[in-house]
Amino acid sequence: MKRILGCAVMAAFLGAAPLLAKKVEGNEYGKGKTLYRNKCQFCHGLRGDGKGPAAEPLLGHPVDFTDSKFWQGDVEKKIAETIKKGKEMMPAFDLAPDEIKGVFGYISQAFKKAALKKKMTGDEI
Ligand code: HEC
Repeated sequence: MKRILGCAVMAAFLGAAPLLAKKVEGNEYGKGKTLYRNKCQFCHGLRGDGKGPAAEPLLGHPVDFTDSKFWQGDVEKKIAETIKKGKEMMPAFDLAPDEIKGVFGYISQAFKKAALKKKMTGDEI
């Protein structure tokens, strides 16, 4: 009886695994990460430091998300406005509000910590 129960639990778990994986992939962070990789990293860099492959020939310098100065003020608004309107050499992007939220979530989680660390240690990372 115990074994049968064990198997049932196992089967239920295996059955649920793809659903769980899908939930993680489909959340805002995952969406934001995909959007960032597809639309932002060419200029802002995979590490968010503004040194993406397309940054070099640009006249302006893409903002460095790992610089603590970037994180002053209402950053969520700044990101949303910049995406919607573009800025200098940066084109505007036609993203839905939840996509913008996702990109903001990804940029915060992926690069803000690096910015704070850099500020505390004074190190280049
Ligand atoms: C073609 C290159 C390019 C791409 C692609 C790009 N950016 Fe930028 N971005 C720039 C440049 C250049 C600046 C600096 C503009 C300036 O001179 O103030 C910038 C600035 C910014 C700023 C700072 C605005 C401010 O007021 O300080 C934010 C936020 C930003 N980008 C977010 C994004 C996001 C999010 C994406 C992806 C959806 C993205 N960028 C894609 C080039 C790019």
